[in-house]
Amino acid sequence: MTTPKANKILVLGGGGFIGSHLTQRLLEGGYEVTVVDLFDGKISEYIGDPKLKFLRHDIRARDWGMEELVKWSDLVIDLVAYANPGLYVKIPLEVFRLNFTENLHIAETCVKQNRRLIQFSTCEVYGRTVASIPAAGLKDPEDPKHATFSEDSSEFILGAVNKHRWIYSCAKQLLERVLHAYGLEQGFNYSIIRPFNFIGPKIDFLASEQDGIPRVFSFFMDALIHSQPLKLVNGGVNRRCYTYIEDAVECTYRIVENPGGACDRQIFNIGSPENEVSIRQLAELMREIYRRKYLKPGQALSEIEVVSGEEFYGEGYEDSDRRIPDITKARKLLGWEPKWKLGDLVEASMDYQMECHLNQRLVTQQTGG
Ligand SMILES: NC(=O)c1ccc[n+]([C@@H]2O[C@H](COP(=O)([O-])OP(=O)(O)OC[C@H]3O[C@@H](n4cnc5c(N)ncnc54)[C@H](O)[C@@H]3O)[C@@H](O)[C@H]2O)c1
Repeated sequence: MTTPKANKILVLGGGGFIGSHLTQRLLEGGYEVTVVDLFDGKISEYIGDPKLKFLRHDIRARDWGMEELVKWSDLVIDLVAYANPGLYVKIPLEVFRLNFTENLHIAETCVKQNRRLIQFSTCEVYGRTVASIPAAGLKDPEDPKHATFSEDSSEFILGAVNKHRWIYSCAKQLLERVLHAYGLEQGFNYSIIRPFNFIGPKIDFLASEQDGIPRVFSFFMDALIHSQPLKLVNGGVNRRCYTYIEDAVECTYRIVENPGGACDRQIFNIGSPENEVSIRQLAELMREIYRRKYLKPGQALSEIEVVSGEEFYGEGYEDSDRRIPDITKARKLLGWEPKWKLGDLVEASMDYQMECHLNQRLVTQQTGG
């Protein structure tokens, strides 16, 4: 059965990087939105909009009113997660509890109340490529076909249990499998999104301005601003396909709209297959943009320094070597095509972060209070 068009949307984790952009887009589309998050710093500019309600709750608490809010909504979008490799290594149990146990609790409330759920998963479910396994003995390991992942047919290859970084991938994968099972046995209506490295304004704070470990783009920005080395974990050989947040939100918005029920019980890769770059190339690109646009007279340009994964993140670190999204499904069912090219999206993201830095505006999760 197809769920009717949603009007009231509950966005859990809507105060985060993706959630803040999505909330803006939903408000522009005329939806009534309730955001639940620990922080509202990234959506503070929309607070006051009569169609937006922000509720500060920790979804791990047992009495925050989830049942009532799910009942109020026509659609639930769940973005809550620890979404940062530094944390997968440092606090793997907490990552499992939040990203699986707590998210399952949300999903089961949606099942019980018969509400459609859009669940943010991750491209990390695919793990490593077959080309990363020497014993596979591929004749053409560089062929992109070995690194191109499709939602409904690719195999998942994860590392050993003592490489606890994979707990993030595993927790998300298990949640996906449970949603699939609820769909199969009880007709539960969900859509799953696997983001491929979104970047853009509001992605993260700078490491020197707040405690914690931001993602690689913000690490590099921080290093460039403070003339510190750009640390390349394991030489920065791993490759990613960077996707601009504007493109990503447009695709997500079409999944929300769900034309003709096309997204019912579907998994979608969202990513830009043309934007593949190694982390070393990303560092070099950012270094060059910084030199051209922001380097002050007399300021030293950051050098590149190679560090080991264990040195940088701690024991238990391992990484996906390469991942390219197959976006045939989003193209076909949603008519979606990513527009932003790598150089432009990196520059736009840097411009935003520089502007925040120069205006002493923290790209922060927290409110002033
Ligand atoms: N950004 C990407 O490229 C990317 C890649 C793969 C997967 N994802 C997934 O997309 C989702 C959103 O990612 P993001 O980049 O916006 O991350 P984010 O960290 O910016 O957003 C997550 C939000 O969840 C909130 N949150 C965390 N714990 C909470 C709790 N206990 N109670 C209430 N709120 C809580 C955080 O405050 C934050 O605002 C996540 O599920 C993530 O795993 C993102």
